Amino acid sequence: MTDLRVGIGSLKLKNPVMTASGTAGYGAELAEFFDPSLLGALVMKGISLEPWQGNPPPRITETPCGMINSIGLQNVGLEMFLREKLPFARQWDVPVIANILGTSADEYVRLAAELDGAGVEGIELNVSCPNIKKGGISFGRDMAVFARLVGAVRKTVKSAALIVKLTPDAPVAEFARAAEESGADAVSLINSIPAMAIDVNTRRPLVKNVIGGLSGPAVKPIAVRMVYQASRAVRVPVIGMGGITEGRDAVEFMLAGAHAVAVGTAIFSDPMAPLKILDGIRAYMENHGIKRVSAITGSVRT
Ligand SMILES: Cc1cc2nc3c(=O)[nH]c(=O)nc-3n(C[C@H](O)[C@H](O)[C@H](O)COP(=O)(O)O)c2cc1C
Repeated sequence: MTDLRVGIGSLKLKNPVMTASGTAGYGAELAEFFDPSLLGALVMKGISLEPWQGNPPPRITETPCGMINSIGLQNVGLEMFLREKLPFARQWDVPVIANILGTSADEYVRLAAELDGAGVEGIELNVSCPNIKKGGISFGRDMAVFARLVGAVRKTVKSAALIVKLTPDAPVAEFARAAEESGADAVSLINSIPAMAIDVNTRRPLVKNVIGGLSGPAVKPIAVRMVYQASRAVRVPVIGMGGITEGRDAVEFMLAGAHAVAVGTAIFSDPMAPLKILDGIRAYMENHGIKRVSAITGSVRT
């Protein structure tokens, strides 16, 4: 028998596999393929106070071993999320993690307060969003602004686990430490990496926004390195993601220091990927005589 349970702060997961924000909507699309209750957690698409339309198309392009997206954080807004999306997701026996984004610290605090009150099990802060008041620099790249933001949200969140999603566009060890010191229950990484691709015939960028975020297997070795560095810098749990496509990818992240993993881009080519990855982790444990999945975390031999 394998014990797949992991704890992420107050969050008790039945296994370490979750969805990555923005790649499985609010759960309904995934439920057409399998029962989301089988997952460790369901991470929702990022939401803001008001609905956002996102960027103009084209917003997605395939690249070797990955994709670039510039969705622009399109979402239904808090009110619709609380009225329709969250109650719908409640039909499954799976912890719900809301992913939030704002353009000011105040917006993050208000979102977190409402969601905590509504009983989501986790709140993940997407700090890659531009801080309008600071002239468009993302919260995740300015250390002082970042620490203040996490501290302010921490004060409002009483029951949900507070997860801070780090941007790969900044030194992860320092930001992971700042997140922990400011009260985060866990850190997650990586978000997609700023990237660009051009159609040489039309000379136009392949996403209208010119720059988008690269995800998928192309980013995996970078993500594994960042998870390794972040996990050595903090005591709080680390949720690893970036190009996880099969069980052995997930194990690699766990060996590097991840307590749990999230699956994103792989869902677009195979919606069953999260379950196959979970099976792969289980098979690895059986083959290596590992009883508890938590024993894998950080056990890389360097
Ligand atoms: C289409 C798309 C939409 C995404 N939307 C969000 C989002 O709303 N909030 C967020 O924090 N990350 C978002 N991400 C980033 C993913 O959650 C994940 O961090 C990243 O894609 C790396 O994992 P992957 O290679 O498995 O996709 C998005 C990624 C993609 C591809």
